This record gives sequence, C-alpha cells and structure tokens, in this order.
Amino acid sequence: MSKSISGFSKLSKRGKLRWLVENFFKDPENVMRELMSYWLLNEEEQKILDGFSENTISNFYLPFGVAPNFVINDKTYAIPMVIEESSVVAAASSAAKFWMTRGGFKAKVISTKKVGQVHFMWSGDANKLEEVFSDLKIKMQEDAAGITKNMVERGGGILDIQLINYTGVEKDYYQIKVNFETCDSMGANFINSVLESFAVSLREFVAVQDHFADEEKEVTVIMSILSNYTPECLVRTWVECPVSELGDFTNDIDAEAFAKKFCMAVRIAHIDQYRATTHNKGIFNGVDAVVLATGNDFRAIEACGHTYAAHDGHYRSLSHCKIENGIFKFWLDLPLAVGTVGGLTKLHPIAKRSLEMLGNPNAEELMMIIATTGLAQNFAALRSLVTTGIQQGHMKMHLVNILNHMGANQEEKDAACKHFIDKVVSFNSVRLFLDEYRSGTSGNVKKKSILKN
Ligand code: MEV
Repeated sequence: MSKSISGFSKLSKRGKLRWLVENFFKDPENVMRELMSYWLLNEEEQKILDGFSENTISNFYLPFGVAPNFVINDKTYAIPMVIEESSVVAAASSAAKFWMTRGGFKAKVISTKKVGQVHFMWSGDANKLEEVFSDLKIKMQEDAAGITKNMVERGGGILDIQLINYTGVEKDYYQIKVNFETCDSMGANFINSVLESFAVSLREFVAVQDHFADEEKEVTVIMSILSNYTPECLVRTWVECPVSELGDFTNDIDAEAFAKKFCMAVRIAHIDQYRATTHNKGIFNGVDAVVLATGNDFRAIEACGHTYAAHDGHYRSLSHCKIENGIFKFWLDLPLAVGTVGGLTKLHPIAKRSLEMLGNPNAEELMMIIATTGLAQNFAALRSLVTTGIQQGHMKMHLVNILNHMGANQEEKDAACKHFIDKVVSFNSVRLFLDEYRSGTSGNVKKKSILKN
C-alpha cells in the first residue's frame, strides 16, 4: 500500500486522521479513538488550537506546573512552567524558597532592541550607495509609515538603519541592518513586514538614481527577515548574600566550602564547552518552561541564548559567580525577545492564564521573570551537583515515572519509594522489585538479586 498522499491538507481533520491510522498503525480503530479522545470538547476552543498550525489531528499534552515563592524585585510570583522533564519544577521551587529568605532575586532590563536585515546584492560603486543612503533611509521610512504607525503610537518603531558593506567578504553583498523597538510584542510580524517594505523601497530607489550606471540601477534582494540574535534585548538577574548566610549543606559541606565549589562549577562552564553546554541547558530548562507557558517562541529564545553564550568567540556559561568581601554573588545576563501581546500570548487559553497568574506583566517584566527562572534552575542544578550529586533528587522522580510506566498502584508505589530510598534506581531494579513485591516476597525483597541489576 502506498504511504504517500497528495491533497492531505485538503482532507477534513477526521479524514486526515482516518488516512493516517489506516496507513501507519496496526490497530486503526483504537488509535483513531485514542487520538480523538484528546480533542477538546469545546469545538470553538479546539478550532483556535488547530488554527495555530497545519494538518492537526489531535492535541499533544505536556504538564503545566507552577513554581511558587519566587521573589523578584520584592514582588512574589507563582511561575507557570510547561516542561516534560521531571525535577525541573521542583528544583525551581526549591531555589525560589532558598532565596526568598535571603533577599530574593533582583532583576533589571538592560536594553530592548530587536534586529532585522535586508540582505541584497548590488554590483556598483560602494561610495555611490553610501552617498545616497540617507535619502534611501527617508524613503524607506516614509514608504513603511502605514506599517509603523501603530507601533510608533505605542512608543516603538524603527530606531536606526545602517548600511553594511560586506563586499570584502562576499562580492556584491550588502545588508541593511535595522534596529527596532517593539514594546510589549515580540514583534516578528511587525519587523518582517517593515523589512519587506524596505526591500521594495530599495529596488525602487536605485532604479531612479540618474547618476547610477545602468547596472547600478538594479539590486537583487536575497531576503528580508528579522534576526533572532538580539544581544541588545538583554536582561540581568542576580542573587547575593553573605557567604555565612548560605547555611550548611548535605554531606557536611559548610557555607564557605559550598560557595567555593559552586563558583568553581560556574568557572568550569566558562572554560570548557562540553560543561558549558550542559550548564546552559540547565538554565534553559527554566527559561523554556516559562517561555512555553506564556505562549512565546522557545526556539527563538534558545537560538539567541546559545549565540550569545558564544559572543566572545568561545561558547561559555551564561551565568557568572563571584565571592567578594565575603558576599556570594550569582548572576545571569540573557537576551530575551519575548512578548506579552500578539502571537499566541492572548490566543492560547492557557498562555493567557499563565500571564494572568504572573499579574499580566509587560514584556520587560516578563523578561525578568523568565531570566530569573533560568537562574534559579541553574542555582538548583549546581547546588545538587556540588553537594549530593544530581541523581538523588532526579531518581526519586524517575522512580515514580518508571512505576507509572509499569502500572504500579499506590501501595506498590509507596513500597517502592521506601525501598529505593538508599538504592540505585534503574528500569531493571524497579521491574525486579515489582515482580517480587507482587509475588508476595517483597517484605524481604532479596537485596542480592536487586543489586545484581
Ligand atoms: C538536566 O536537565 C540539567 C542539568 O544537567 C544541568 C547541569 O548539569 O547544570 C542538571
């Protein structure tokens, strides 16, 4: 049977699902029923979700969790987090609680510029283009006035326009680089519309320059698109307290030893790229979860964050740590282009509730909340790594996931949690435990057989 199809997008949702289950699944009726069971009962709401994408056949669920007790700039938040990985929300909550009694998190937005580019080829005398560029800038802005009007009224718009001559790197290649302020919207549509208008203006402008030679009256626009690299849309978040107030940690680590080990862990992530990647991944565990919960674009945030992590030419930790005059300081600088209006932010029913949970912040406040969740996550991960190791906390959650996967009931789960308190959790050891528990030998589960696995 052929598994390709033409006109798939034109089928009804049910038709798409029917074709899919009949061609790709062994038990079509059951799979069809199962996937349809995830459709929302409210048809209007389902239509809104379907409208976000194409060829939708069902909804894909992810846990929607909350990390309470986040004090940021003296305001207390319960932070919504959408993430499939166990321990992340627990870690964020525990870091929030830790810092709540030590002054909380502080955060400030450093800058809010977004960037867009028109990339084009032009085979002329670069001086001639530079000479007329200020006139071109006026034309581009006048031609785009219909698009920028609303944004200007909201306090944003085009900040500046530059001509970049890349012909030293690539023959005939130039770029118009534009900085934007997009206020509370992420601004992707706005920026792309302005850039496409600029591209048309550019072509029209060179075509009527009488002093240009014939071949100079033509440009080839390669593309007009925003840049997801926004190093000047930057937020800083930090915590600090006297080292002596950090308290004592498991495994007999005192505050001073903890602070030193912690700072060294951050330092290692500045030196070594293998560690830096994992370290930053931990930061994005927190960042992405809030970005998703608030209906923002996590791919854009990740792409930008990782480029920023390499902004001095070497991929490094995004967070920093120092001990100065007995004060422990831990901070994160992160570029975050997010919005609280437009996009999915108000359309997605749960994103809307997430923003409401946060007190309907503006984009700058949301930047601070997101970055702080990243810093909290990083703090929690490093605290575990330099004290107990990460597996202790992780494995508790992992154990529950394995037990759920194996269909354990509550009694079995309770018994397993007790049993594995001081033992290594693995799929095999849990299976063995359950087998023995179920066959009644659990009271004295044979340690030997479990350890073998
Ligand atoms: C796991 O998702 C994230 C960590 O690996 C981060 C880190 O190592 O810093 C725990």
